Amino acid sequence: MDSGKQITFSLMMSVGAAVIGSLQFGYNTGVINAPQKIIEQFINDTWRDRYTEEISQGSLTAIWSISVSIFSVGGIFGSFSVGLFVNRLGRRNSMLMANVLAFIGAILMGFSKMASSWEMLIIGRFVIGLYSGLSTGFVPMYVGEVSPTSLRGALGTLHQLGIVVGILVAQVFGLEVIMGNADLWPLLLGFTFIPAVIQCILLPLCPESPRFLLINKNEENKAKTVLKKLRGTTDVSADMQEMKEESRQMMREKKVTIVELFRSPLYRQPLMIAVILQLSQQLSGINAVFYYSTRIFEKAGVQQPVYATIGAGAVNTAFTVVSLFVVERAGRRSLHLLGLLGMAGAAVLMTIALALLEQFKWMSYLSIVAIFAFVAFFEIGPGPIPWFIVAELFSQGPRPSAIAVAGFSNWTANFIVGMGFQYIEELCGAYVFVIFTVLLLVFFVFTYFKVPETKGRTFDEIAAGFRQTAATGGEKHSPEELNSLGADSQL
Ligand SMILES: *[C@@H]1O[C@H](CO)[C@@H](O)[C@H](O)[C@H]1NC(C)=O
Repeated sequence: MDSGKQITFSLMMSVGAAVIGSLQFGYNTGVINAPQKIIEQFINDTWRDRYTEEISQGSLTAIWSISVSIFSVGGIFGSFSVGLFVNRLGRRNSMLMANVLAFIGAILMGFSKMASSWEMLIIGRFVIGLYSGLSTGFVPMYVGEVSPTSLRGALGTLHQLGIVVGILVAQVFGLEVIMGNADLWPLLLGFTFIPAVIQCILLPLCPESPRFLLINKNEENKAKTVLKKLRGTTDVSADMQEMKEESRQMMREKKVTIVELFRSPLYRQPLMIAVILQLSQQLSGINAVFYYSTRIFEKAGVQQPVYATIGAGAVNTAFTVVSLFVVERAGRRSLHLLGLLGMAGAAVLMTIALALLEQFKWMSYLSIVAIFAFVAFFEIGPGPIPWFIVAELFSQGPRPSAIAVAGFSNWTANFIVGMGFQYIEELCGAYVFVIFTVLLLVFFVFTYFKVPETKGRTFDEIAAGFRQTAATGGEKHSPEELNSLGADSQL
């Protein structure tokens, strides 16, 4: 019997319960898109009642932009705190505890209208951002650790899929006939409560990560029991052996702290690449679409902007599935280049559509095509690739620190786009997408000249490439540093 391939009930349940966290992240990314106008009206009305004067356009834009983007500030703090929890409480219990944040966030947002307080909305968005930042760390880790090696890649992609499905669900729920109206929008935002309840019911029935039990807790028997349930066999010695081997490998290579990562000239180039690739993902303008597409479509003269937004969510989901099949086979670098170029082309189309809207009514259709293409190319390259490459550029010692730095850059850029988009749009009008076009081309050029292909290469080979560039740059390294970069290449 091929026990490594078996999908047991216990495994399905564990992965399913965990991925609710990914859904929540996606849901809260997409949820403020459709009801923007309605919630702005609430802010407008609340301001009038409170201060007995009309709100200025500037204050309204500010309050709304903060409500949208403070989510990513929560994300920054959340993603940085992952390490505080996973090694103490365990992976499963960390996920369970994080739901406290989901409940608080849901309550704050859900009752903000009743309490006539946009402050509650803003704080709620921050808290749910914290939850989402934690989830983006917890979920892939837990899923990776309960899955057998042969299924790790396939099950790992469920995290990405959970996010895009979450965005899509939020867009559908945001329809006026469902919850995207003046009466029900608090329910729409508070809905995040329900998946949190479901996760709290399911997680206690799921096992703790066997890797955590064995390596962090040194509870070998418990780890074995859990593995037997997850794998559906009594012979789990191969899995146990693999985990022990992995932990031995980890001990062999010293953990590199974030400070050391920045100090050592050896990591300078891979780190710069990791950070810029993350920036290329967020500054491509993708979240301008996920946060603001309904407003963008409205400005582009689309009759039913909410349906166009849902269409974008559907294209996003479809191309995520496509990319799941492509990413493992094609080169990372080529896919990223293709995605960036495609997005730049789509952004040009979008600019044309917005600029010529006055002359030609049908330009609104072009804008729909442009946004769909924008999203599709995102999922082919800049969506998945930056995370892939970061993990492949660093060996185990510096990897956790590198991923933390990459995560920080990612959420920060996410914040900048969420906060700045409306202002830039008010300033540039139809030409807002020109900015993204320029950025996309800059990232294209950078990727073309600086990013190595990582697929099918060992850390040793990749590191050797960097050593060469670093050496020709005239910098001197101690042999110790050189070794630490090349170590662990057998993985
Ligand atoms: C606030 O609402 C009033 C009436 O509903 C409207 O006339 C005004 O333009 C709105 N203010 C802004 C800044 O949108």
